[in-house]
Amino acid sequence: MKKPANSENISESSRLKHKLKSSVAIQEKKSKVQQVLQTIVSPKKIDANTSFRIKEKSISLSKSELFLNTVDDIWNEAHQEDILHLVCENKKFNGKKLIVNGKKLLNFGSCGYFGLEFDERLRKSAIEGISKYGTQFAFPPIYMSTPDYRELKSKYHQIFGVSPLIAQTTTLAHLGCIPIIVGDKDIVLLDQQVHNSVQMAIKIIVARGVIVKTVPHSNLEVLEEKIKKLKGHHKKIWYFIDGIYSMYGDFAPIKELQELQKKYPQLSLYIDDAHGMSWLGKHGSGYALSQLETLDNVILATSHAKCFGSSGGTLIINDKPLAEKVRKFGSTMIFSGPLQPSLVGACIASADIHLSGEIYLLQDKLKEKIKYRSSCFEVAGLPVVDGGMTPISFIGIGDHRAVGDIVKILMEEGFYVNPALFPAVSKTRNGIRITTTLHQTKRNIQLLADVLAYYLPKVLSKYKTSLEEVFQKYSLIR
Ligand SMILES: Cc1ncc(COP(=O)(O)O)c(C=O)c1O
Repeated sequence: MKKPANSENISESSRLKHKLKSSVAIQEKKSKVQQVLQTIVSPKKIDANTSFRIKEKSISLSKSELFLNTVDDIWNEAHQEDILHLVCENKKFNGKKLIVNGKKLLNFGSCGYFGLEFDERLRKSAIEGISKYGTQFAFPPIYMSTPDYRELKSKYHQIFGVSPLIAQTTTLAHLGCIPIIVGDKDIVLLDQQVHNSVQMAIKIIVARGVIVKTVPHSNLEVLEEKIKKLKGHHKKIWYFIDGIYSMYGDFAPIKELQELQKKYPQLSLYIDDAHGMSWLGKHGSGYALSQLETLDNVILATSHAKCFGSSGGTLIINDKPLAEKVRKFGSTMIFSGPLQPSLVGACIASADIHLSGEIYLLQDKLKEKIKYRSSCFEVAGLPVVDGGMTPISFIGIGDHRAVGDIVKILMEEGFYVNPALFPAVSKTRNGIRITTTLHQTKRNIQLLADVLAYYLPKVLSKYKTSLEEVFQKYSLIR
């Protein structure tokens, strides 16, 4: 396969010229890419030797210490590769190209899928928020809030059809809500891949003695079996999920779950739809709401960050007395500060866009890009895991060292993607997360697919594996 053009040289007409001019062999010999391909990262980390090393050295280490050691090993190696905790060196960033270590990189890593964070209306409204109320409004909302905060709540009411509770972040929304809604006689089933921010809040109820079990990812058969066994023993059976999973980008089977709720009225759903917000649903209210027939026995948490273009988290609780309980007693609802004036301002401007026809134009544009990305990756023969038609795409790799190499090579070639490493994914299923945004052109997407198709087999073979094996590992069809 021929080496594709570097993205820094991707002015449309120069691509072909570049292809012709460059002798692939000569260029590669000199390049840092070649160095990456030739330097075998010492396999001391998370292979069999490492686990042996850890076990031998630390017989008395606890499970959580072992977990931290493993994370430490993987992340240290990623730091050696210089692919994490990077700095965006742009003097002014517009979402399209990042400058990292002096190199321009096409941005395939941001979750601002529409790029609304750069919209002049949001910027202006954020600045107005500061002009009116300062850089912070230093009151917990239980004491005092601004008229802008009220206005935002009323706009969200129009978007979601229910009066919302607003928190500074989605994580804080979970922390405020989950300990209040789950009763001591309830049981909690956690989807294996539910977001870490949900799992963090779950620890509070575990400490209270609530039983929590993990169920295989989106496996409705196992879920139903569990419900049948548990229903005689608990008041409510909660199932905690993401609407769209943040690493693999797959959709939760929400319609099927609502069918299960009809069969088992004890089943309650808690959905974190952070990545489903804006780009799907009426008024951009998100994937979950676009699927749900009813909000009875459903609690929805979503995000004003990601596609919405601002920051903060929202809880949609249709059961008014329960919503009131969370508002009054949820610890982060009382003890944490409010969404600050600049962010409330940006949220108001974004909400106005959501309540106008413009949201559907943005949704259509993004869906078209997603479709294009999906077909490019398919034609390029890439191991796309789960393959939901969402703005998140996950390329399965496996070995974390191979992830480090491919991310580094992509950076050399002018692309930024997210390394997806343990514990965000399982220890043996590391990969790269590629996001689709309206900043990218079709040409950008095509080039990334070409570059990946060219280098991925080379990197895999360095680690004595192949695309075939990756396809098998993730049970993907070629
Ligand atoms: C699914 C999901 N939920 C929650 C969060 C946390 O959001 P926040 O930064 O608002 O706490 C994230 C962050 O990436 C996420 O992907």
